[in-house]
Amino acid sequence: MGQEHDNAHDLQKLRDRYVPKGPFNVTRSFAASAEGAVIRDVDGREFIDFAGGIGVVNVGHCHPKVVAAIKDQAEKFIHTCFHIVMYEPYVRLAQKLCELAPGDFDKMALFANSGAEAVENAVKIARSATKRQGVIAFENGFHGRTLLTMTLTSKVKPYKFGFGPFAPEVYRMPYAYCYRCPIGLDKATCGAACADLLKDFFIGQAAAENVAALIVEPVLGEGGFVTPPTQYFSKLAAICKENGIVFVADEVQTGFGRTGKIFAMEHHGLAPDLTCVAKSLGGGMPLSGVVGRREVMDAPQVGGTGGTFGGNPLSCRAALAVIEAFEEDKLLERAQRLGDTLQKRFSSWLKEYEILGEERGLGPMRALEFVSDRKTKAPATAQAKALAKFCVDRGLLLLSCGAHGNVIRTLMPLVITDDQLERGLAIMEEGLREISLGRL
Ligand SMILES: Cc1ncc(COP(=O)(O)O)c(C=O)c1O
Repeated sequence: MGQEHDNAHDLQKLRDRYVPKGPFNVTRSFAASAEGAVIRDVDGREFIDFAGGIGVVNVGHCHPKVVAAIKDQAEKFIHTCFHIVMYEPYVRLAQKLCELAPGDFDKMALFANSGAEAVENAVKIARSATKRQGVIAFENGFHGRTLLTMTLTSKVKPYKFGFGPFAPEVYRMPYAYCYRCPIGLDKATCGAACADLLKDFFIGQAAAENVAALIVEPVLGEGGFVTPPTQYFSKLAAICKENGIVFVADEVQTGFGRTGKIFAMEHHGLAPDLTCVAKSLGGGMPLSGVVGRREVMDAPQVGGTGGTFGGNPLSCRAALAVIEAFEEDKLLERAQRLGDTLQKRFSSWLKEYEILGEERGLGPMRALEFVSDRKTKAPATAQAKALAKFCVDRGLLLLSCGAHGNVIRTLMPLVITDDQLERGLAIMEEGLREISLGRL
């Protein structure tokens, strides 16, 4: 390829000249290689990865099983198109996903390429199954960058600004952001009252019999790792059921072990009608899918769903290897231990550093919300961003999120070693100390 000889400085010039600014960059580094929870760049710098390619490499970079599966498949055939000549990895993966997804009912699965495509497909399937059009999404939700998923997404800048008009028949409800309760109640006593607003919604916004789907993230991803209680989701699911609305979980970011279970809805004992998966499903390969109730999944007519690359053989083989890796490497147990370590550490920081307003998350999908005043909860966006920059400058990849960009989140590979984790956390703590001393 030749690129190995170019350093980041030269590559940055090419990037600036030939790639528009729209696709954002968190660092100015160019990757040379990656393994487990470490990325090396073309200048020989090493990063401990708490970002995981935005939640894509739960099994770690270049997991040996994933690499072997991709190589083996590439030597057999790379693409036939599932619609032209079918192949075993697609149907085997569909079977596996149906077995793994929560719910003691018959399921089916189909595959696409990106998280946004999975969400688009889920909406199409729900509309086809219900013969209704409305879709309910949530404040601070993120579902992708295509027209429909950008419409479902609630943050305007940068995701929607200048890109309208948006898709019709999309409605929005408050999300159970308990730290900043949308209806001013106390989490300890509210009984998830914000979920009941859905009943008023059917009076004031759209009739239940016109609503095809309600799509919700079990933990807000880009929206700030907001983690509602079980009661919230069980109420939403029950209202959907009563009204014939397809309950869709967008598990694109929460899925595939991120929260210590394969799917986050398992923490709540709930089985959504449809679940969207992507990101860590493919172990780094582009792959997404929708899995759910057989009768709903099977509603669209022949040719109504699909696509040229959907469920590419290399991606499906990679995903089958990911599932094997979860079983053989006991990754869910590792994830739970990792989550405990992060929770303990973050809770101790919450006691120590005034700048932190809340520690939250599910398992190792954890976050710290920064506030400049614990009473007013004014978002401390500059400090959260300063911490992320401090960490990147010291070799730790760390991402912010949240409507105000004032939340720091962890998406490290679950295979991270104790030593790498400790080194990463030490950098974070050093940054927090600098902030508390007013030096950042
Ligand atoms: C919850 C959720 N849904 C959908 C998407 C869109 O996925 P993609 O970027 O693969 O289209 C994302 C991406 O971050 C996500 O977090």
